Amino acid sequence: MRTKQTVLNQLDCILPAKSVNEGVARSVVGAFLLQMDPTVEDLSDLKCATSEAVTNAVVHGYRRQNGEGGDGCPVFLSLAILPERVVRVTVKDNGCGIEDVAEARAPLFTTGPAGERSGMGFSVMEAFTDRMTVRSRPGKGTKVTLYKKMK
Ligand SMILES: Nc1ncnc2c1ncn2[C@@H]1O[C@H](COP(=O)(O)OP(=O)(O)O)[C@@H](O)[C@H]1O
Ligand SMILES: [Mg+2]
Repeated sequence: MRTKQTVLNQLDCILPAKSVNEGVARSVVGAFLLQMDPTVEDLSDLKCATSEAVTNAVVHGYRRQNGEGGDGCPVFLSLAILPERVVRVTVKDNGCGIEDVAEARAPLFTTGPAGERSGMGFSVMEAFTDRMTVRSRPGKGTKVTLYKKMK
């Protein structure tokens, strides 16, 4: 049985899968977490990790090569402040999903067009946070959850 996590404050937003919203997501993280008086480093780490997850929803989840999705391609971003200065970020899409999550998480693995993507997005998310979970169902979508304890 899993106990529900206590949430002290929360922000949910839905963004269409457009690459411009990678930057919007960064700004949303900055605006919402200001109340925690975060260090510059913690904040920039979380912005980076969040934007990698949003980028993946846009370019892989909805397979928008030029980053221009729209209606019908929602990216769900949820930010939550948990006890003990832990921040939880979830990024969810209703896109194509991932067949093999372990393979996708491996450094340098990419299904992106040759030379265009580094295959390091998940590695960046893991390096810049304390914990990352990835749940995905082919044809249904993907949910990435990131946890970071702020200084
Ligand atoms: N939201 C997603 N929906 C579908 N596939 C995804 C998603 N996120 C990641 N992937 C898959 O995992 C791979 C690795 O992602 P990542 O580490 O960010 O590298 P990159 O984005 O550079 O390919 C992607 O190439 C893609 O195949
Ligand atoms: Mg990526």
